[in-house]
Amino acid sequence: MYVSMKDILTHANAHNYAVMAVNSVNMEMARAVITAAAEENSPIIVNIGVGQMAKLAHPTEMVPMIKELAEKVNVPVALNLDHGSKFEDETAAMRYGFSSVMIDASSLPYEENIRRVAQISALAHAKGICVEGELGHVGQADAGDNSQVDLYTNVAQARDYVDRTGIDALAVAIGTAHGDYPKGMKPVLDFNRLAELKAELKMPLVLHGGSGSGEENIRKAVAGGINKINVCTDAFHAAENAMKAKWAEAPGTNYLDIMVIAEAAIKQFVKDYIQIIGSKNAYGYGETVNTSKE
Ligand code: 13P
Repeated sequence: MYVSMKDILTHANAHNYAVMAVNSVNMEMARAVITAAAEENSPIIVNIGVGQMAKLAHPTEMVPMIKELAEKVNVPVALNLDHGSKFEDETAAMRYGFSSVMIDASSLPYEENIRRVAQISALAHAKGICVEGELGHVGQADAGDNSQVDLYTNVAQARDYVDRTGIDALAVAIGTAHGDYPKGMKPVLDFNRLAELKAELKMPLVLHGGSGSGEENIRKAVAGGINKINVCTDAFHAAENAMKAKWAEAPGTNYLDIMVIAEAAIKQFVKDYIQIIGSKNAYGYGETVNTSKE
């Protein structure tokens, strides 16, 4: 069923688990992600980034398809605009039918971040759409941004930020970054900061840059109050590795068969991840999700 991301994250926050948000750039990926969740009896969030939409995942085609896939399964599915930054991107996503929008103004000065996010919150909430903001800045792993402590979320600012923006979920910078870390490196996460943020805000918190973080970090982040984990690079790698392995073994494998292999690999990756972050059987047996749009 297609729901607001707020419904998913409110439940996850109340029951201390996290839900995957997987960037899905075509039908096969979206279907892999949603069917994996259905088989694990887990809520799921489909993320689509602005750059991904421009290159491949055109929203006019993706949104109806994702809604169709969502309505076919008996688990909550939300669709979130990932890293929208421009006003026009946000309002377009609302028109296309996304059930959640992230506005990333985290590189801008604090007051400007608040101004932009509060504006989008007011518009989105009037339509029953969930809003995620980011305070601190989750940068790029290949630039080493994860170890720049001055980019981490400031606990003292976070209360003010949430109150003045009215957001439903906060993306926090605690030591992860987007993309691949240098080979062999695992990020060091600031779990004390996460504990302070959770104690202060008591609201759904989001971890960006889930890829390459390592199972132990992910488990501890969930135990510390993270309720949404964004994963993109590792989902792509699951498909790429399966395709490379198949082509190494059978170089003549055609497009149709390789796409089937890619989809199956993403599905398995998502199923395994769901086991780690506690969203399997999250609604128990018989408990029903609130399917209101807010
Ligand atoms: P990764 O590519 O590092 O998993 O980051 C994904 C992400 O945070 C999308 O917003």
